[in-house]
Amino acid sequence: MFEKTFARLAIMASCVVACLGFTCPIEAQQPATLTIHADQPVSSVSPTLYGLMTEEINYSYDGGLYAEMVRNRTFRSDWSGVLYWYLLENGSAAAKMEVDKTTGPSEALPSSLRLDVEHADTQNQAGVLNVGWWGFALRPETTYKGSFYAKAGSSELGSLNVSLVSDDTGKAVATATISAIGTDWKQYEFALKTGALQPSSNNHLVLSVGHAGTLWLNLVSLFPPTYHDRVNGNRIDLMEKLAAMHPNFLRFPGGNYLEGDHVADRFQWKKTIGPLVDRPTHPSPWMYHSSDGMGLLEFLGWCEDLKMNPVLAVYAGYSLQGEHVNPGADLEPYVQDALDEIEYVTGGPDTKWGAERVKDGHPAPFKLTYVEIGNEDWFDKSGSYEERYAQFYKAIKAKYPDLQLIATAPIKSIKPDVLDEHYYVRAKQNFQDATHYDTPGSNSASPQHWDGGHYDKADRNGPKIFVGEWATREGFPTPNFGAALGDAAWMTGLERNSDIIVMASYAPLLVRVDAGGMQWETDLIGYDTMKSYGSPAYYAQVLFASYLGDHTLGSKLEGAGPKLFYSITGSAEKKKLYLKLVNASTDPQPIDIDLQGAKLAASAKLVSLHANDTQETNSIDSPQRIVPVETALHNVSGHFHHTIPGLSIQAIEFDEQ
Ligand code: AHR
Repeated sequence: MFEKTFARLAIMASCVVACLGFTCPIEAQQPATLTIHADQPVSSVSPTLYGLMTEEINYSYDGGLYAEMVRNRTFRSDWSGVLYWYLLENGSAAAKMEVDKTTGPSEALPSSLRLDVEHADTQNQAGVLNVGWWGFALRPETTYKGSFYAKAGSSELGSLNVSLVSDDTGKAVATATISAIGTDWKQYEFALKTGALQPSSNNHLVLSVGHAGTLWLNLVSLFPPTYHDRVNGNRIDLMEKLAAMHPNFLRFPGGNYLEGDHVADRFQWKKTIGPLVDRPTHPSPWMYHSSDGMGLLEFLGWCEDLKMNPVLAVYAGYSLQGEHVNPGADLEPYVQDALDEIEYVTGGPDTKWGAERVKDGHPAPFKLTYVEIGNEDWFDKSGSYEERYAQFYKAIKAKYPDLQLIATAPIKSIKPDVLDEHYYVRAKQNFQDATHYDTPGSNSASPQHWDGGHYDKADRNGPKIFVGEWATREGFPTPNFGAALGDAAWMTGLERNSDIIVMASYAPLLVRVDAGGMQWETDLIGYDTMKSYGSPAYYAQVLFASYLGDHTLGSKLEGAGPKLFYSITGSAEKKKLYLKLVNASTDPQPIDIDLQGAKLAASAKLVSLHANDTQETNSIDSPQRIVPVETALHNVSGHFHHTIPGLSIQAIEFDEQ
């Protein structure tokens, strides 16, 4: 390191001397030399390297990806009243509302909102209004599909109006009428169609009546058009952003969200399937309640929509606040629950849980390769994970020998198929960690050892690695360009070591940027009710996943500054070479590139991501400050000279002839 620094100082000094009497060279740095041997494949790149990890955090699903527009559709309340719902008394109407714990539409939803209307008439309506997830995003000429469960005290209550009302004008912009509400619980459906209007989220939803009487309500739901028109589906803009990442897998349902704060709060998949009215909802560890609208089958539908492989995390008997289930007989029901879950995902119609999936509307079994046993079980200080993992491993392998089972902490008694490792670090750390998984001796002299959390220098004979959560944490709510540089440096290491790293996923993926929407700083994609944007780190991910071969190539970099990182991969099938360059220095880095062993087209595609400062970033109001820019490079076959500007991430796609 001292020698390299000394050499750079000497070069800089000679430039200063040169500048005193002569024209300054444009490039202050001495060119580095990068030699690439396109005919020397080194190791394979996992076809599933880049994917997604999500969980219910930062209003990722409710108030985020899951397109439900009604907030608290099941009428939960606290000391302050019914959350996000308010009483409406227009003109001379008079009414009161409260939660009624004695009646509800189902066993899972045994309570409801009771509205007692003392007086109301057609011009003076009484009802309730919902403020939505920071409003209701309305667009012109759009149909919103809704439903609710209701019963009336008597048939005299008459019709019920549902309207979307502008906060700014107080006028309804779309209305539907249900002609009568029966005296038994029943689901009612409606559609609200907007006309010409300015897109806005300053709107609320009203349910009102024009007659005295009593009305009970639950599960009030409203959806905009969704991605692939799925019923109970996802927000289109967010799904499109995820699709652009070319994700190969989805790890779900967490994260801490899988575990819950307590055993009773874990993600209980059986309570997240079937009709919404049969889902009781549950508290999430991220300090808000989950509607469970994003249930097991919705996760799988999401995989289907983006052609991702599910990486199914099953609850393994440890919850965040430190409770664990003892291995042995106590754990058996949890193991059985995981077996049932796998059967729901993969089983045929002749199996008990496969038949349930068919009943829920998905006849075809899903392909499943990876099952993760728990989440971050190194937190379990009782040491029970060793035995808990073994118990799950034996039971699952006995029934599903082909499944790859992921451990979330090192295991001694059994060699796990895959080990999940998590890294949340600053950019500087990721510059150092770009060689973290390199074979001992290839880039660093440090020996392999267990450092209490992660393997330093991965053992090629050890378990495969899943970097199930990682991020450079700089910038909030979304990462700035300095973080993107840390990420990009780290990803060069992921690609170089993808013979052992089978999958990797950034976390957290999503964040609601409105006040109170974020529980965890530095999240890849931000959104409010109307719009969404990708952070610079998001575009770094898009760029890395878009230009990736299936094997790494022999190469050597000499004379570069310490903040230059690269990855070179090739695809024989596509006849392409992909060079990624990351210059985290503020200085440009000239490079003499010597591409040997392939006949290349004279021009190549160059995609660049650049910022003026590490603190520069994108935001909900400036979503496009830093985006990839595509240009062409000419005369690139064989030797060529290329300068990567300071603070830049680049991908160069070469065509083989
Ligand atoms: O990504 C945020 C949290 O970080 C995850 O829920 C947890 O697995 C990790 O500690």
